[in-house]
Amino acid sequence: MGMEESVKRTGEALVLAQSRALIYDIIAGYGNGSVTGVELGVRRASLTTYLLANFPNLSLIAVDLWAESPEIEETHPHEENYRKTLAALEPFGDRAKILRMLTTEAAGEVEDKSVDFVYIDATHTFEAVSAELRAWLPKIKADGWIMGHDYCADWAGVKLAVDEYCKNVQVAATTWACRKRDVDMTRPVSVVLDFDDFHQTNHRLDLLWELRERVKGFKVNLFTVPGRCVPRWLEDMQAVEWIDLLPHGWKHANNYEFAKVTESEGLEYLGKIEPLGLTKCFKAPGWQISRGMYAALNKRGYVVAEQWALNPLRPPGLRCYALDGGPEKRVHGHIGNVCGNGIEEQFEYYASLRGRFEFIRDVIGERADKDAQEAACV
Ligand SMILES: C[S@@+](CC[C@H](N)C(=O)[O-])C[C@H]1O[C@@H](n2cnc3c(N)ncnc32)[C@H](O)[C@@H]1O
Repeated sequence: MGMEESVKRTGEALVLAQSRALIYDIIAGYGNGSVTGVELGVRRASLTTYLLANFPNLSLIAVDLWAESPEIEETHPHEENYRKTLAALEPFGDRAKILRMLTTEAAGEVEDKSVDFVYIDATHTFEAVSAELRAWLPKIKADGWIMGHDYCADWAGVKLAVDEYCKNVQVAATTWACRKRDVDMTRPVSVVLDFDDFHQTNHRLDLLWELRERVKGFKVNLFTVPGRCVPRWLEDMQAVEWIDLLPHGWKHANNYEFAKVTESEGLEYLGKIEPLGLTKCFKAPGWQISRGMYAALNKRGYVVAEQWALNPLRPPGLRCYALDGGPEKRVHGHIGNVCGNGIEEQFEYYASLRGRFEFIRDVIGERADKDAQEAACV
């Protein structure tokens, strides 16, 4: 029986069917064999009921605290939801088991390698989803699945956690899924972190200091807008041993400041910033860079910071630091809350980074000294 026919055509069931088709397909993949799953975050058991009604071979462990807690981001009518859940699951007898506790604590109630899938839909922050992955992964059978809801830009924390730990992720609508074997909770050895738009009135030094306190060996590369800083302030910043400053345009009035500059204008700019002692790795505002600027950087022995290693416009021999290059984990964000990766809005993600932190100036080193364009990108 296909999904369309089997779904009870109430409004809620239809919405569920559309946005949760992936979980439906994965359970259907087990055929008639028995399947045991876990739902983290149940609310009033809409999904729970929908799945149990459609898969007679399915048993579900439904986990929710149904209470206010600092660990729970949203407010819900918890008691009412809990009552509705009890009533909705009652007809399924022992195919439905309720665990009224925090999602991470509930993992302690379940045997290792005993469930076929875990579906995450509780608190949608990087920290919460990471903790749930860590707690529940051992509970899943070797060939089992981990899945969840709200993989989308509106819930950036969910997306960051999934992207951070999971490979070969399937996404349909806003549901994500991957095999347990494709989840890796260990971190890479080296981390290169950079933030754009650092200057005297946009610095978030408060948050940078907090990161420094929370993250062992924290170092950060700050792409700096020198035309918005007095040289003395830049000197003070350069003196902080866990910070390195790199040039990011001049005033960064918009994203096209370096999109049309000629080679001689580029050389003039580099001459102007030379005395400031910034690391010789230039990133154009908005990544928009002209051929003339490439030529100027090449002439002055600079490295260019780019989004992609394979950029056919970059001249041969010009060294680059590409976000998608190198053996390290390269993480890019912004000082302010722009592009969804600002320090404040993704603070928990940045605070969760682990590994040996590196400066860009150290990872470009001699390895960048190559002629071929691909090899020139480190
Ligand atoms: C988005 S709703 C779940 C929706 C449900 N999966 C569905 O599809 O209908 C989130 C639920 O997770 C619960 N929750 C959030 N964080 C939790 C946590 N850390 N431990 C236990 N329950 C949590 C909330 O009480 C709320 O009922």
